[in-house]
Amino acid sequence: PRKIIIDTDPGQDDAVAILLALASPEIAVLGITAVAGNVPLALTEKNARIVCELAGRPDIKVFAGCDAPLARALVTAEHVHGKTGLDGPQMADPTMPLQDQHAVDFIIETLRAEPAGSVTLVPVGPLTNIATAFQRAPDIIPRVQEIVLMGGAYFEVGNITPAAEFNIYVDPEAAKIVFDAGVPLVVMPLDVTHKALTTKARIAAFRAMGSKVGDMVAAWTDFFERFDMEKYGSEGAPLHDPCTVAYLIDPSLFSGRLINVEIETGSDLTLGMTVADWWGVTDRPKNALFIGDIDAERFYALLAERLARL
Ligand code: BDR
Ligand code: CA
Repeated sequence: PRKIIIDTDPGQDDAVAILLALASPEIAVLGITAVAGNVPLALTEKNARIVCELAGRPDIKVFAGCDAPLARALVTAEHVHGKTGLDGPQMADPTMPLQDQHAVDFIIETLRAEPAGSVTLVPVGPLTNIATAFQRAPDIIPRVQEIVLMGGAYFEVGNITPAAEFNIYVDPEAAKIVFDAGVPLVVMPLDVTHKALTTKARIAAFRAMGSKVGDMVAAWTDFFERFDMEKYGSEGAPLHDPCTVAYLIDPSLFSGRLINVEIETGSDLTLGMTVADWWGVTDRPKNALFIGDIDAERFYALLAERLARL
């Protein structure tokens, strides 16, 4: 199986990404590192443990990482995810422990200990933990097999400002470090995640599993989609973060282009914009496979089939 570290700020869609990974034999989750993002760190690390317990995997190591972006005050998204970050169903506090080690130290130690080129990073929140690890231990950068992240937008532009997507906007300096690192990068921007919409039928399929996982995922997606439906009149909510894990399981679900992507860190107006050279109008190095399309039917079929295994 593909060895991964999930770096996350749960978030209902983060929760589904974690469940999909834990349900899939193609993937070995070495650890889950929490970062401040959708809600503050004390909630994201707790939420990560709630999700592991729900999956019946209290053995998964969960680490708390950075509680604020590299150079800015934290911006959160309770308006989308609710006060807890995982609003929707009733949830008990987790009983599995949080690891003592800092998430950044775990990332560094793991990349040094595992064979070079054998560990993939899957960041689905702001990139603070990953950038801090790269800054503190540049020797780990060439050891990363690939980074498959959710973040950015191009034709779909922004969801937190007119120009920027949330994960990149929250810590643009960190995003710049990661995009400039020279690691093979697969990017799931809003352009693709907005095609992975929950619908009534898709949520009903989760509920029809008749399991605790199915009920929880249905309750989470019910809550999560309210925001997009009320605000944008869309037919459901984009399940952003699970696109990363689905790509690792079956890349044939997706298509995109290898292009140059730069992160705006200077302008107030367009801070955190992913400036994507989709049309190849520059000769800047192609640093990211920027995904543009998804087979949403097959994606949701995969999700339902895998979640039913938990
Ligand atoms: C991203 O921001 C968060 O709110 C979601 O969990 C996702 O990772 C989408 O812009
Ligand atoms: Ca997220």
